[in-house]
Amino acid sequence: MSHFSYRNGVLHAEQVSLQALAAQFGTPLYIYSKAALVENYSAYADACRKAGRADAGALVCYSVKSNSNLAVLNLLGRLGSGFDIVSGGELLRVVAAGGDARKVIFSGVGKGRDEMKLALEHDILCFNVESIPEVARLNEVAGELGKRARISLRVNPNVDAKTHPYISTGLKENKFGVAYEDALNCYRTAAALSNIEVVGIDCHIGSQLLDDSPLLEALDKVIELVDALEAEGIPIHHLDIGGGIGIRYDDEQPVAVGDYLARVFARVDAWRKEKYGGRQIQVMFEPGRSIVGNAGVLLTEVQYLKHGESKNFAIVDAAMNDLMRPAMYEAWHGVQAVRQDAGRAQVYDVVGPVCESGDWLARGRELAIAPGDLLAFASAGAYGMTMASNYNTRGRAAEVLVDGVRAHLIRKRENPSDLFALESIAD
Ligand code: LLP
Repeated sequence: MSHFSYRNGVLHAEQVSLQALAAQFGTPLYIYSKAALVENYSAYADACRKAGRADAGALVCYSVKSNSNLAVLNLLGRLGSGFDIVSGGELLRVVAAGGDARKVIFSGVGKGRDEMKLALEHDILCFNVESIPEVARLNEVAGELGKRARISLRVNPNVDAKTHPYISTGLKENKFGVAYEDALNCYRTAAALSNIEVVGIDCHIGSQLLDDSPLLEALDKVIELVDALEAEGIPIHHLDIGGGIGIRYDDEQPVAVGDYLARVFARVDAWRKEKYGGRQIQVMFEPGRSIVGNAGVLLTEVQYLKHGESKNFAIVDAAMNDLMRPAMYEAWHGVQAVRQDAGRAQVYDVVGPVCESGDWLARGRELAIAPGDLLAFASAGAYGMTMASNYNTRGRAAEVLVDGVRAHLIRKRENPSDLFALESIAD
């Protein structure tokens, strides 16, 4: 069920009108629904429970990069979520939000020494290592601290995720993971290092997958590798299948999270029964978009309407710096006028004030709007605020979390002076 709906002709987040939120907090404004976040996370947690994997049998590690606001992390942490991070900064966010560092997995191809040190000091669950030089460095850093680093190797299963090329990661030509053919050798090297403890295996083939068959194909390839590793005396305690289930932006029909997880567990359980006498392996997921994407909208105010010879433009106060996805991936986001039935509709390109032709948010949309009206960009909860920038010295939007009739300001709007506070004039 959508937690963004019209009531008396005005779009609401849960029970709060978006008009009231604009009046109170200004625009552009990111608005998230707590009920939607809980519901989306619960789809994962419930599927784990249903498969009899309530405790150590499964772990959902929310992918922090999709939306890293402390309030979002705190809420998910309280629901029991672990976290998938890609930087020391994200780890500090998780800790600041009260998340459990021992449920953190650290992904990414370029971890620095300081980030490794920080993560080891927080005793994170696992490093998802992506190359031999990285595991060698981690071994050194762990040695300096007198610790052993738990690792899993990110394997590139060479499976086509059939998604946008910029968010596809599981093919040979991608920079991520170690090649499938090299994985055994890499594991042997890693297992021989004295400050490294091999505990798992992981893969992530891409984002916004609508169909789970590439994910299940990747799972099969990972399972084969686990068998080969076990045969060599390298036991694997967890298997992490990454994130990636897509959401509906327009008319997409993504597989239901519960169905996908049920298929993963059925496959894993059958394999464990056949080969390991039922000895379980912990299964991990790293979802981002499917938890936060449709739990958030970006609210903006129409500034000017410009009627050109070949096109009409609605110039709004949000821009590519607030929501980068259209400019970067030609991504489609639904746009809704906050006030329904406001008059005669016309076709508009919705654009921002940034000085770039690429600064558009939606193209060719039929909208009945006037200057001063509010528009909501749908499905903006994931990779919206986290990809926002200060281009054109624009302060980033404020963020609000709605819970029933209440609205919490969870990030203040940036002021221009915040933006140059770290700068100084050379003498
Ligand atoms: N795990 C790893 C290792 C990842 O690289 C990602 C996303 C995830 C998990 C979470 O994937 P999700 O469940 O959200 O699909 N900025 C792009 C998306 C980039 C995804 C990067 N990696 C966008 O706006 O579409």
